[in-house]
Amino acid sequence: MKLTYYGHSCFSLNLPNHTLLFDPFISGNPAAQHIDISSIKADYILISHGHQDHLLDAADIARRTNATLISNFEIITWFGKQGLKNGHAMNHGGSYSFPFGRVKYTNAIHSSSLPDGSYGGNPGGFVITPEGQRKSYYYAGDTALTYDMKLISEEFELGCAFLPIGDNYTMGINDAVRAAELTSTHKVVGLHYDTFPPIVIDKTKALAKFKETGITLLLPAIGETVTL
Ligand code: NI
Ligand code: MN
Repeated sequence: MKLTYYGHSCFSLNLPNHTLLFDPFISGNPAAQHIDISSIKADYILISHGHQDHLLDAADIARRTNATLISNFEIITWFGKQGLKNGHAMNHGGSYSFPFGRVKYTNAIHSSSLPDGSYGGNPGGFVITPEGQRKSYYYAGDTALTYDMKLISEEFELGCAFLPIGDNYTMGINDAVRAAELTSTHKVVGLHYDTFPPIVIDKTKALAKFKETGITLLLPAIGETVTL
């Protein structure tokens, strides 16, 4: 499976017949100005929570691509009021089988107000199990380390976890290593770092810290596509 990184917590997963785009925040990211948003493909746009740095470009991309938005009830309702009716609302602990595979909306410890101050429900993450595949993929969203992550390893075998590592607003590197251990994953894509001054990290130290524990940390460049 291929992943393309668009900066901050935005990435796409290329499944055999569908493209999933996560947390689009590109036009507001100074480090992602070389990304041509109008060329990004999406059949589904998954939004972890209501903060602007996770959904700034979602409406534009959804209008252009006619992608289905997947998020919590409050966020899907909010987009619906903007005329985006192609949404699928979920809530924590719930799973649903989409044409590309099964999605479970998982717990996250964070906040979730929408850019206009509306209530955004509670923040979450997603476990994606692509159709016909044994392994699943966990996108944690913005979250603290939480023991709930252990439940994910009890239910799923993860091929990879997409975890925030930037600290300050979310887990930092040390807790992300512990999250990888709790979820029994050996491969992590690091997200939510370097975009703003409080979340600038030392990438060399991050890579070394993960390596010590035998977990592979991938830090794709913005615009880069990697094979998971
Ligand atoms: Ni957030
Ligand atoms: Mn965020």
